[in-house]
Amino acid sequence: MQLDSLTSNEMLALLNWYKSVGVDMCVSDLSVDQFSLSEVKDAPASVLPQSLPGKSGGKQSPLIDVKAFLEKKDDGPKTPLTAQSPIEGAKGDPEQAQSLALSANNLEDLRSKLINLDGCALRMRATQLVFGDGNPDADIMFVGKAPGRDEDIQGHTFAGRSGDLLDNMLKAIGLSRSTLYLANIVPWRPPGDRNPAPHEIAMCLPFLKRQIEFVAPKILVCLGEVATRTLLGEDTNLINTRGKWHETKIGTHDLQVLTSLHPDFLLKQPAQKRQVWLDLQMIKREIEAS
Ligand code: URA
Repeated sequence: MQLDSLTSNEMLALLNWYKSVGVDMCVSDLSVDQFSLSEVKDAPASVLPQSLPGKSGGKQSPLIDVKAFLEKKDDGPKTPLTAQSPIEGAKGDPEQAQSLALSANNLEDLRSKLINLDGCALRMRATQLVFGDGNPDADIMFVGKAPGRDEDIQGHTFAGRSGDLLDNMLKAIGLSRSTLYLANIVPWRPPGDRNPAPHEIAMCLPFLKRQIEFVAPKILVCLGEVATRTLLGEDTNLINTRGKWHETKIGTHDLQVLTSLHPDFLLKQPAQKRQVWLDLQMIKREIEAS
């Protein structure tokens, strides 16, 4: 469909439709289906950010079938697809992010510095920042991966179904949102709920570390693979870290880390809840002993 063939009422209807599905900003001349992009292994990245010539020589309608376009065979040399849209290409300097995070004097200050962080494109796509929440004086902190749809709308960590499951798990060992602190590796929802990219993590990690320093928990629980690898090291994973305590320093703060399965995973694989029950018992014993 060519935009210039639409009547003004049709254009208005199209804009209203975009609005109703949550589109609130224009980041490119083309609409890009991030889900199909992540499935395409080997498309020319060079086509992604640019406008395409339409039949009449003008610009192509934003309603182009991008996947079909990417699958054309005669596009010249292939470059690996990074699934980056133009705005995601705008990368900041993690060292500057670290200086900014270190300059924060308290959690509120850190939040106000993070909210305007340049160089992490997740911020531009998300509805709002989902900073850590719960009790900032808590001795125990849980770290998940990233906000999802519900968190993005409500602005709180673990606000959706996985949050309900987490609440039930916590209740089983006498914990609640008022007795712990919750945060994520990245504080903005990644498009399509994909895993955050290494550069996005690198930009946000100094803020999470500073948050951990301010909360200063005795116990930190990494929920899932992304939190585990980010906080315990790239060479770790859930299989080789679960079931034991890891003495770690995060920022300037020494603490004990436990890793466990992510509630999103448990929603898909409920039979794995018995594994988490063992982790919860370890947490309970540690709290009672301290
Ligand atoms: N999943 C996460 O990792 N974090 C949230 O806050 C919600 C879902």
